[in-house]
Amino acid sequence: MAYSIEITQSTTRKQKPDPNHLIFGKHFTDHMFILDYSVEQGWYNPRIIPYQPITLDPAARVFHYGQTVFEGLKAYRTSEGRTLLFRPDQNFKRLNRSNVRMSIPELDEELAIEGLRKLVEIDQDWIPEVEGTSLYIRPFVIATQASLGVAPSHTYQFLIIMSPVGAYYAEGIHPVKIYVESDYVRTVKGGVGTAKTGGNYAASLKAQEEASGKGYSQVLWLDGVHHKYIEEVGSMNVFFKVNGTVITPELNGSILDGITRKSILELLASWNVPVEERTISIEELYEAHKNGTLEEAFGTGTAAVISPIGQLCWKDEEITLNGGETGELSAKLYDTLTGIQRGVLPDPFGWTM
Ligand code: COI
Repeated sequence: MAYSIEITQSTTRKQKPDPNHLIFGKHFTDHMFILDYSVEQGWYNPRIIPYQPITLDPAARVFHYGQTVFEGLKAYRTSEGRTLLFRPDQNFKRLNRSNVRMSIPELDEELAIEGLRKLVEIDQDWIPEVEGTSLYIRPFVIATQASLGVAPSHTYQFLIIMSPVGAYYAEGIHPVKIYVESDYVRTVKGGVGTAKTGGNYAASLKAQEEASGKGYSQVLWLDGVHHKYIEEVGSMNVFFKVNGTVITPELNGSILDGITRKSILELLASWNVPVEERTISIEELYEAHKNGTLEEAFGTGTAAVISPIGQLCWKDEEITLNGGETGELSAKLYDTLTGIQRGVLPDPFGWTM
């Protein structure tokens, strides 16, 4: 279906940042996509306009009750000058699942993809080409109705903004030190952990700050009831290779359904690597380390793709994984996934658009 998206080109162009020194999410492209919602009209008025501040009433519900969802995906430039998006359909499906959880009306996924395609086309010269860089895309929805009543908003805006980015961690794909968080929790089953909503990230900041103060890059989140079962790492899904089998916590109602996670599982299946999606406790992991069977661990997410874990610290006991080096499987997964994303490797799964 062809959608009518009104386009207003910016009359000025911003200076682009040095592609060799990109800071994650600091610079934004020349344009943005906007779509409005009202109860009477549904989602209406799709448009691309110059990137600019938005004006909201101070009573807008998003400011008070956090009714908001977001997504993250990337566009890449291939060596032949083609532009590739990685599984954008998955992002907009998940956006709608997050919308449902946060009582936000669902969007037309095809319109969102169409808006995104047009926006990327207009700002395509913002896609950096240096190795490890990409254009990070941030679609999000905010509740805009001015009202302090605790109820779903009657009006919303959906926006897409874009930012040229380098590697998420300045260190690149080097193993990071992780603090196992035994007190703070990210979420609980029945909460909003499966939705990509701002509050989950706000709730993680305190633990992250304290872990940083102790010299760790991120925290490993345990479940909110027993403080025992592994859930996620930082803002990523987490995988462990134990005795040749790859284990990742199953989607249990509090874990985010990561698109990189899903892609890793599909890649591993295609390589016939044994995989288990199941509950795994921190005790089991430390036991595996004692027995010498904990081979590798890594986080997966759109921003960092693969982030190997070099050290874990749980209750003052620090263990080093794989000699603190990037594991063979972690490296192979990173190279394969980024190779497909950048159009350097064939894409047998049909993931890129
Ligand atoms: C990701 O790993 O892509 C994330 O969700 C992190 C993002 C919030 C910066």
